[in-house]
Amino acid sequence: MSGYLNASGKKPFTVNDFKTCKEKKTKISMITCYDHAFARIVEQTPMDIILVGDSVANTFAGYENTIPVTVEQMIYHTEVVRRGAPSKFLVIDMPFMSYHVSVEDSLRNAGNMMKKTGANAVKLEGGREFKAVVEALVTASIPVMGHLGLTPQSVHKFGGYSVQGREEDKRKRIIEDAIILQEAGACSLVLEKVPESLAREITETLTIPTIGIGAGRYCDGQVLVINDVLGIDETFQPKFVKKYVNLHDQVKAALEGYDSEVKSGTFPAQGNVYE
Ligand code: KIV
Repeated sequence: MSGYLNASGKKPFTVNDFKTCKEKKTKISMITCYDHAFARIVEQTPMDIILVGDSVANTFAGYENTIPVTVEQMIYHTEVVRRGAPSKFLVIDMPFMSYHVSVEDSLRNAGNMMKKTGANAVKLEGGREFKAVVEALVTASIPVMGHLGLTPQSVHKFGGYSVQGREEDKRKRIIEDAIILQEAGACSLVLEKVPESLAREITETLTIPTIGIGAGRYCDGQVLVINDVLGIDETFQPKFVKKYVNLHDQVKAALEGYDSEVKSGTFPAQGNVYE
């Protein structure tokens, strides 16, 4: 891929760029994506990384949380995204219980996910409890992105989606976990919904980049869910999200326009018919 420019005229991001970006203090941009149509659009932007997140459970499938997603479903969505975004650094989320049973089972699942999708890395949630898993994956040449703070697969343990790491003992534990993940070989670390001061301390402590979501301004990069950036769900407006467009209203207005023209007989017009 050296010398190759992608559809946005940019050299594709590789695993080595995590280190380079950290050293040069270049911010990393990551967006989730779940389908081919949006993947094609992301491919045409300078976005560094696509995450096929297990948030597909909420955004695509309409589940209340990410627990139901399977390895097969993650593989399906990642294959679809890869076809639309051939040059992007693609991270696939390991779903709930795909890396919890044993190191061997985790290796088999991650290996299968990498083989079938063309992903460049896997992401998994959790700290010290998955040290051996991260080490084994990295040894098998599978780059791993960590994920600490609010880890949505633990929603039943947390009892909701509140900010994590506000209490001193929990803050200390997240910092320790971040260091453990780095030592285990993780190439980068997502920090979700933690106080800005905690994310800043972790970012200044680690030599791998942090990628924040609801983690403030001092992370080495940012990630958002594509549906949130595009304003697709009109009912969802947490503080950490910035909607760059209100697609919900635009799509609704377009569909209402189509419906109305069909019913009034103004669509199809002369320009839409074959002679
Ligand atoms: O699944 C997901 O979308 C994620 C991001 C919120 C980081 O893990």
